[in-house]
Amino acid sequence: MPGNSGVAPLAWGRRFLMCPPEHFGVLYEINPWMHQEVTVDLDRARAQWEGLVGVLRQAGAEVETLEPRPGLPDLVFTANGGVVNGRTFVPSRFRHPERRGEEPHYAGWFAANGYDVATLPPTVSHEGAGDALPFGRVFVSGYRYRSDAAAHAELSRLVGAPVRAIELADPRYYHLDLTFCPLDGRRALVAPDAWDAYGRKVVEALVPEPLALEPDETAAFCANSVVVGTTVVMPACPPRVGRQLEAWGFDVVEAPVGEFQKAGGACRCLTLALDVELPGPAPSPRP
Ligand code: ARG
Repeated sequence: MPGNSGVAPLAWGRRFLMCPPEHFGVLYEINPWMHQEVTVDLDRARAQWEGLVGVLRQAGAEVETLEPRPGLPDLVFTANGGVVNGRTFVPSRFRHPERRGEEPHYAGWFAANGYDVATLPPTVSHEGAGDALPFGRVFVSGYRYRSDAAAHAELSRLVGAPVRAIELADPRYYHLDLTFCPLDGRRALVAPDAWDAYGRKVVEALVPEPLALEPDETAAFCANSVVVGTTVVMPACPPRVGRQLEAWGFDVVEAPVGEFQKAGGACRCLTLALDVELPGPAPSPRP
């Protein structure tokens, strides 16, 4: 096991957009976790959501809220709202019609809050930070189930940053953020079993110190964690994962979100980082 060489905290993850679960529920089935016959306990969902907000604030993050809307039960999963880089916001284009009604609410919030809203062509799908997470100087973007590979060139142009594409290979892990969680400048939680062989190579080349999750850890939504400085906020932390994170110098805090897992999402899905700003390309030497 690699030793504790100190955490070089992420430059982002101190400000998040979240949406209270007033209208949350499992009202349709668009991923293998969702079953309409399962009922959501809305009081428990509210308490879990408040618990997550409390833990994030305790760790030093600010939380902004998006107004919940009736008829949009998945609006709580703000990670899917779009991709942020600096003052630019690229709203998602959802794969499923059930979620398309969310698009104008995100675009509206970001426009009202001073971001430049840059839109993808209507012919491609991309589900925002659920599928595109910053690591170092690039966005790692998962595609297949919800986002199209064809979205990446345009996404890269709009956000002004390179995009490394990873093909997802397990329908249970239909978004990248169920399989990949940047921890700091060198480390990430990874679930390579959920990617195709080329995707595994891309991450191997990018992440010097990965913590590879076991299949049961991935299924427990471990990778769907929120990192605030040296604090890793996880839906549940298996002892093996906790030991490695602590050896690296992270604190782990559990924020159970079981009601939201009934819809196929956990801690990361419930947040959208507002302070992502990639450092930009390495400066080329003056001629
Ligand atoms: N029910 C939602 C969907 O299937 C869950 C979204 C989870 N979000 C995420 N970033 N993984 O679209």
